[in-house]
Amino acid sequence: MDNPSHTRLWTPDSWQSRPALQQPSYRDPAALARVLAEIARLPPVVVSWEIDRLRDEIASAQRGERFVLQGGDCAEGFEDCESDTIARKLKILLQMSLVLLHGLRRPVTCIARMAGQYAKPRSADTETRDGLTLPCYRGAIVNRPAFEAADREPDPELLLRGYERSALTLNFVRALVDGGFADLHHPEYWDLGFMQHAELREAYQRIVDSISDSLHFFEALSGGPIHETSQTRFYASHEGLHLHYEQAQTRYLPRRGRWYNLATHMPWIGMRTADPAGAHVEYFRGIANPIAVKVGPGMAAEVPAELTRILNPGNEPGRLTLIHRFGSEHIGQLLPPMIEAVRRTGSPVLWVCDPMHGNTETTPQGIKTRRFGNILAEVEAAFRIHEEQGSILGGVHFELTGDDVTECTGGARGLSDLELARAYRTSVDPRLNYEQALELAMLIARHRNRVQ
Ligand code: PEP
Ligand code: CO
Repeated sequence: MDNPSHTRLWTPDSWQSRPALQQPSYRDPAALARVLAEIARLPPVVVSWEIDRLRDEIASAQRGERFVLQGGDCAEGFEDCESDTIARKLKILLQMSLVLLHGLRRPVTCIARMAGQYAKPRSADTETRDGLTLPCYRGAIVNRPAFEAADREPDPELLLRGYERSALTLNFVRALVDGGFADLHHPEYWDLGFMQHAELREAYQRIVDSISDSLHFFEALSGGPIHETSQTRFYASHEGLHLHYEQAQTRYLPRRGRWYNLATHMPWIGMRTADPAGAHVEYFRGIANPIAVKVGPGMAAEVPAELTRILNPGNEPGRLTLIHRFGSEHIGQLLPPMIEAVRRTGSPVLWVCDPMHGNTETTPQGIKTRRFGNILAEVEAAFRIHEEQGSILGGVHFELTGDDVTECTGGARGLSDLELARAYRTSVDPRLNYEQALELAMLIARHRNRVQ
């Protein structure tokens, strides 16, 4: 066997000598190269000191002193780069953070699947309809969803459009956050929009009142406003799937002596591209960002520990997050041995539960959905199992939207299979709607409050 991967030379393009799954093939390599050079020249979307701060926050979540809420669309479309949509998504994430802060009694770091979540892994490279076979749709930075040959042809210009929209989205998020949108002193910014359900509305209002009371109490004692803790920290993340795109935004910062991916704060490796010998793992091992990997069924038992050794050879705190996504039926059997195997590596990791991707099913009417009860059951099982194993569940990962869509069934309104057709808008996976997302945060917070 050759030398272990973490001692081999790494460069931003060393992934190119490994098998790279899920990459589009471009007809005109010169056009691709031109676009990538342009992206590499433009200013970065995020900066290294934000990335370093997130690494510190993840390290504190690993110790159980903080909680991570990661959430957003399965896939962003370019049409989502629009002020109301962005503000609504920010709002639901902030409301959930507030509820979790109250219930878990820990500061919350909010990491949005946003400002760059444009590339999607697919189960097949092509799609056939009525005898016509075309490349599959791989997300907004690759090609267009319409089933036409011209639309499905990977177009390098879309990478540039994606980079620009990431920057525009994050620019607006930063402005809202700086303007006080994420400040606990101003929960009135986060009116309840689509929240029609009276009981949930009241429960949320009680939490807001209780937090406002505590804040005023502490400020009266300390004689001034509490800034540091009253501001929810907000970061961007996306699946680092399109490796040329990620490489183009990878820069060496001489003062830090490390390479950073400046396209997002925390990129993650999807489950389909998490092969320890593959190109994605090779690319990720060399960047200084805090990174995550999705782990779950279908992965050989030794893989999560192997990934941990490759991706965090120095056992650096805050570096690695493992997002497990088993499905409510499998978590009980599969999570305990995984925790044990990873523990033996000696690396600190942040364990995050994604209760969405293992609970996808198709209704008798042929609609892809997820059931609220299964989502909740997987999160609760995750908390319990980590506790039993002496480890810590430090975060949750949801696919959600700030809109009133009907894509997941159940929740306080008891959305049925037949009601899904009313506002089913996702282009990929079904998302929790605004009410379901807030309800889920409340149920987690309430349940934890009872247990703690
Ligand atoms: C996703 O997060 O949208 C996704 C594709 O997840 P996974 O890699 O866990 O299947
Ligand atoms: Co998804």
